[in-house]
Amino acid sequence: MIFSPSLSRRAALAGAVLAGTIVQAQAQPPRGPVGPPTPPPVQAPAPAPQPAPTPAPQPAGPVAGNGGPGQIGRAGLGNALTGLTDAQLAAFIDGRADFRTAETVAGGLGPIFNDVSCVACHDAGGTGGASRRTVTRFGRTVNGVFDPLEHLGGSLLQARSINPAIREVVPPEANTVARRVTTPLFGAGLIDAIPDSAIVAGTLQRKPAGIAGKVSVVKDVVSGQNRIGRFGWKAQQATLLAFAADAYLNEMGITNRFFPTENAPNGNTALLARFDRVADIEDVADPLDGKTDVDRVADFMRYLAAPARGTATAASLAGEAIFNRLDCAVCHTPTMRTGRHPVAALSEKTVGLYSDLLLHDMGTLGDGIAQGTAGARDMRTAPLWGLRARPVWLHDGRANTVDEAVRAHAGEAQSSRVRYEALSATERTQLLAFLDTL
Ligand code: HEC
Ligand code: HEC
Repeated sequence: MIFSPSLSRRAALAGAVLAGTIVQAQAQPPRGPVGPPTPPPVQAPAPAPQPAPTPAPQPAGPVAGNGGPGQIGRAGLGNALTGLTDAQLAAFIDGRADFRTAETVAGGLGPIFNDVSCVACHDAGGTGGASRRTVTRFGRTVNGVFDPLEHLGGSLLQARSINPAIREVVPPEANTVARRVTTPLFGAGLIDAIPDSAIVAGTLQRKPAGIAGKVSVVKDVVSGQNRIGRFGWKAQQATLLAFAADAYLNEMGITNRFFPTENAPNGNTALLARFDRVADIEDVADPLDGKTDVDRVADFMRYLAAPARGTATAASLAGEAIFNRLDCAVCHTPTMRTGRHPVAALSEKTVGLYSDLLLHDMGTLGDGIAQGTAGARDMRTAPLWGLRARPVWLHDGRANTVDEAVRAHAGEAQSSRVRYEALSATERTQLLAFLDTL
């Protein structure tokens, strides 16, 4: 595509390399304040709080929780994992700056996109959080078979554009339209570090009648291998690096080494050619360290601490027993283990995510969009950690309370829901008190 002069850091660096002046950059912090909004001041994460003299009551039973001793950080939302090396902490802070940076048209934003930065959507409770922001997916369902209408720009709609002439719309051919709300990224590095085999093992466990669960198999753009998906409402990506690359292209229109081709507005490549003025690949490596924005943002997410576990109370402990009795824990498995990992803070840790990371047929709660090996009614068990920091619940954000979210369960979770509805008011309050500690 045509080269146009650019003010973006990426293009500026590329230009500097061409001019042979990059050595000067040594004296500068490599992540200069480029891009319109000044990011909030970067603070080093607070050190982990000292252990209290009397340890807080731990949940009873096999639930290890996500902040127990010797496990993972108790840091507040948006902080780094505890136990990182200085270099890892620097990569976290560096990646966070990119996560907060608004992309510019000159730097490659668009031509069609959903927002200008990761944090524009992921900010509830701290940088990297969920939000009420939704994106739209569309397709055409005929005789139960879902067609993502790729030739018309599906299934993900890019709702904004750098020029009104190329704004994408949901095409008239679409008869299935769903919204998906933004998920939180706290603790994502721990989920990334869970071995595929651990997720597969979950399918082999004996389950109560009516509950199954299957893995999402995805062709990983990073390794080229088949991997077990675990990120997104449909478990549609296997790694944070792949998700970061996917989001740079599909949410912001920034082409990168894993996704080198721009999305054409409603599939119209001629229109794309007229408005796409920045040469692909847009996310080029920083010559100082060889990293691209995709790499940096993946580092940030990898080192993001898991939500701290709230303090257990008598009510929440009673609620935990109900959670188990109602088979909630069959899908929302309290813990999984990471494998051996080069990052010590991620290696062989107990992850208190409250999910089996499997797809379940949720019946009427499915979103109608087939994606990869996930069918139209299949949804990934939503991890319940950090539930209390979420602004809305369920894949489309339809639930304004946790109670509403549970009452919408159907399909494989039908029996759990029916038993939830039959609880006494006291029991229900106890169960909700438990969920509020996750
Ligand atoms: C327009 C809003 C928006 C922007 C911008 C955005 N996201 Fe997201 N993000 C979402 C939504 C919505 C989901 C859930 C999507 C789904 O599952 O289909 C999501 C999910 C994710 C997930 C999966 C987490 C999980 O629960 O498994 C990751 C990782 C992620 N985003 C990273 C990023 C990164 C990195 C950026 C910036 C490069 C970014 N996102 C930009 C809205 C956004
Ligand atoms: C068959 C597996 C299964 C069972 C059993 C199950 N869930 Fe879920 N749960 C899911 C799936 C899948 C989702 C994501 C649903 C969606 O939005 O599409 C979910 C979502 C949730 C959410 C919303 C999370 C969010 O991030 O929006 C809550 C809260 C929840 N479940 C609680 C419970 C409770 C409490 C029980 C027991 C009464 C239970 N679940 C039983 C699979 C299950």
